[in-house]
Amino acid sequence: GAAFLASPAFADYPERAITMVVPFSAGGPTDTVTRLVAESMSKELGQQIVVDNVGGAGGTLGAGRVAKAEPDGYTLLLHHIGMATSDTLYRKLAYKTLESFDYVGLVTDVPMVIVASPKFEPNDLKGLIDYVKANKDKVTYANAGIGAASHLCGMLFMSAINTPLTTVPYKGTGPALTDLMGGQVDFMCDQTTNTTNQIKEKKIKAYATTTAQPLAALPGVPTAGEAGLPDFTVGIWHGIYAPKGTPKPALDKLTAALQKALQDPNVVARFASLGTVPVTNEEATPAALEKKLKEEVARWKPVIQQAGQFAD
Ligand code: MLT
Repeated sequence: GAAFLASPAFADYPERAITMVVPFSAGGPTDTVTRLVAESMSKELGQQIVVDNVGGAGGTLGAGRVAKAEPDGYTLLLHHIGMATSDTLYRKLAYKTLESFDYVGLVTDVPMVIVASPKFEPNDLKGLIDYVKANKDKVTYANAGIGAASHLCGMLFMSAINTPLTTVPYKGTGPALTDLMGGQVDFMCDQTTNTTNQIKEKKIKAYATTTAQPLAALPGVPTAGEAGLPDFTVGIWHGIYAPKGTPKPALDKLTAALQKALQDPNVVARFASLGTVPVTNEEATPAALEKKLKEEVARWKPVIQQAGQFAD
């Protein structure tokens, strides 16, 4: 009889919609990056990528959800530097940072900017530092929970000025930004992918970027170094993960689709308007993401142990 050509495993993958978990609320920076990349990847893969926002505990709840998901290529996670910092910040995680995931690739490295409510008195970074030191029991800082990028930047800022502040945690900096614009919370450090438009529309104040060079997307906003806080730089790198044990043919297709998406002119243009650029093909690989994650877990451990008292 006809020779049975066993279709190579996963030749037809993906055959149904894929879920991509964002471990923060809708409308925030991680959600913005994910929806842009997922929309382009789904064109490449010929299947819908459904974004599922699973917020809480600084991104670790969403990461834990994916770590436990079926390793069949249909549940993915897009997460950022918090994947590395949470490894030190949390005594007990529902997953093992360096063992529970397979890797698709790096996505983009997003700058941060220190922003404030329009009602908040200080008008520049020096004024902010003086003001929060003089009013340390009154001032409120917003973040997206311990392990969030906004938490990391806040910890570094409070450590730099040696002043612990009251933090107000949200499930994402999307909702935090709403309260900031309304004046319910005083200031925060957030990614440009969430704040660039509100800064341009003067709905919030921008004191400084956490970059070595000023950002073309934020003309007139000085770097922290220029504004009086030297060496205050932090970039929020993002990666796409799958549960450990996901078949390699599926991972290979996902990496190929990611590389295509990061060269999609629409993705490149939208990222540029939000102050960031996609990584290169070489970085949009499993090896590059695994290397980055391992390096960052090791890099932030001593920093957090030293500044930990600000990481309440
Ligand atoms: C963070 O602070 O980690 C992110 O801004 C949270 C988010 O993407 O909402």
